[in-house]
Amino acid sequence: MSTLASSPHYPQQPDSKFTSGPAVPSRVHVELGKNTPSVYSFFEQATSTWTYVVVDPASKEAAVIDPVLDYDHPSGKISTETADGILAFIQEKRLVVRYILETHAHADHLTGAQYYKRSLGGNVPVCIGSRIKQVQQTFARVYDVDSTLFNDTFDVYFKDDEHFTLGGMPCKVMHLPGHTPDHLGYVFGRAVFTGDSIFMPDVGSARADFPGGNVKDLYNSMQRLLSLPSDHLLFVGHDYPPDRDVEDVVTIEDQRRRNKHVKAGTDEATFTAFRSARDAQLGAPKLLHPSLQVNIRAGKLPLADKEGRVFFKVPVRATLALSG
Ligand SMILES: [Fe+2]
Repeated sequence: MSTLASSPHYPQQPDSKFTSGPAVPSRVHVELGKNTPSVYSFFEQATSTWTYVVVDPASKEAAVIDPVLDYDHPSGKISTETADGILAFIQEKRLVVRYILETHAHADHLTGAQYYKRSLGGNVPVCIGSRIKQVQQTFARVYDVDSTLFNDTFDVYFKDDEHFTLGGMPCKVMHLPGHTPDHLGYVFGRAVFTGDSIFMPDVGSARADFPGGNVKDLYNSMQRLLSLPSDHLLFVGHDYPPDRDVEDVVTIEDQRRRNKHVKAGTDEATFTAFRSARDAQLGAPKLLHPSLQVNIRAGKLPLADKEGRVFFKVPVRATLALSG
């Protein structure tokens, strides 16, 4: 296991060494159809997060979606075992990573985007939706930091619904607000990377009560996903299986038939009443504060103090006037 300070660089060079050998994907999906990439899905157990490596087989150009850093909250230790395994996989397959794609500012894990960028030679752009600026403003206030520090933190700010290409494959960005205001999906042919805009049918939907979240927006985003052609495949950002193995992908048709929160026929009022009541009972995610303080910085850590120490802030909520 390596730390950020001592991690190896440039995995696309053949002599690079990683502390982890190549990770074995939890799931592999190939030959999905025209303009649809091969998908290598890596499940990170500690935060139940799917990281995807999507590959244009003709050019071997690739994108990494929602990479993760390992973080042990009690000790404050950040490490890169998970990332190193995927980077070694990328190296082993001789992939050329063109994009690091974030679906949104995650509140439950630390993004590995900056570590991947540095390890891949420093020129692979870290991309997110342009509305991340709204999220950055919000949390700059929460953590009492100067929001101008976040200017140009990311390399690419996608406009709602813009297009780009990966190798020879077109990708459409889908703005999917609700869980967070900046949330994007990425559509490569039949493969749709939904982030936390929808979950597997027996899990349903993500919470919509973070700052800037909105239950009606989430309902509309889910409807937008469900209105895609029925042969499209939804690759989810997390999985929390109640009584089965983890899964990464489900068809639109299956979601329409079985999604426990928004199956066909579920109206907006029913969904928003359920979601709001459920969210009111949920506690804060365990890694909320470390995650946001790293993720609004595109995976960089807060500035170090004079001694090189890095701290995360935790806003304290108390009705008692005991500070002093
Ligand atoms: Fe999320």
